[in-house]
Amino acid sequence: MIRPMTSVDIPGAMRLKEAAGWNQTQADWELLLRMAPDGCWIYEADGLAAGSVTAVRYGLDLAWIGMVLVLPEYRRRGIGRQLLLHAIEACDRLGVRRLALDATEMGRPLYLSLGFVDEEPIERWALDGLAPPNVADRTSTGLELRYEEGLDRQALGVDRRRLVEELAALPGAEAAWDSDGYALSRPGYQARYLGPLTARNVAAARRLCEALLAKHRGERFFFDILPMRDPVAELATSLGFRPLRKLVRMSRPAASRSTAPVGICSAAGFELG
Ligand SMILES: CC(C)(COP(=O)(O)OP(=O)(O)OC[C@H]1O[C@@H](n2cnc3c(N)ncnc32)[C@H](O)[C@@H]1OP(=O)(O)O)[C@@H](O)C(=O)NCCC(=O)NCCS
Repeated sequence: MIRPMTSVDIPGAMRLKEAAGWNQTQADWELLLRMAPDGCWIYEADGLAAGSVTAVRYGLDLAWIGMVLVLPEYRRRGIGRQLLLHAIEACDRLGVRRLALDATEMGRPLYLSLGFVDEEPIERWALDGLAPPNVADRTSTGLELRYEEGLDRQALGVDRRRLVEELAALPGAEAAWDSDGYALSRPGYQARYLGPLTARNVAAARRLCEALLAKHRGERFFFDILPMRDPVAELATSLGFRPLRKLVRMSRPAASRSTAPVGICSAAGFELG
């Protein structure tokens, strides 16, 4: 049975993501519930949260599907498909124009069968305790991030002010910004997460990332990048990151490619876009 998720389900939801070895924390689930109070669902079986799906809407332009998880012992019974169909139908009813997600190898066949098409690769890169270079820090750090919609739009093509503000306010989150962009970092289960990042140019992106990495020297970081959008892979390499996992960004219907991105950006999380 599929039903709406509430905060009471968070312990069960944590068991779901732990079974898949993902990086989200309890605070990430809470953020999803705040961002999408009517867009998080649980598949309940035998009194357990056996599956989940979330759909974070950015107005009616886009809904981002995430946390598609089924407990290993309940897989291959059609639960994943039912959850996806449920989320798709809910978004269709509201008139959402496009759905998108970052697909793992396990999830991609399911999404292909439901009309999603490949857009571009997205990769998780990891920094394993290498100290970032010393920086002359001219960025501001703190929580009162100044959000510039025009600049941020290059990342997802939508206004994600609400998401960025929510992410910056998470416990343990940090922000760096200046007139050329912003970057956030937040705690994760296995590694601290660097992103989203939006900057006008590589120099600004480097400055912002270095300011955040320098605050947690020696800690493990994850950074999710779209490697076809040069030169973000080059930046990640020079910061000491190495590729860890490959996923595919998919959408339904296919995204229209009207404008080329003008700067450099990274994801907010596979479950957020
Ligand atoms: C991806 C995932 C959510 C799929 O969940 P699921 O409940 O197993 O999905 P379904 O049962 O709907 O479909 C999976 C497969 O089982 C098959 N299947 C469905 N019902 C079946 C049944 N009764 N008997 C046998 N096979 C069945 C489907 O045809 C599908 O086959 P395919 O992969 O060859 O196309 C699950 O594997 C998972 O949690 N993986 C780890 C996390 C992850 O990667 N999530 C995706 C994030 S993008």
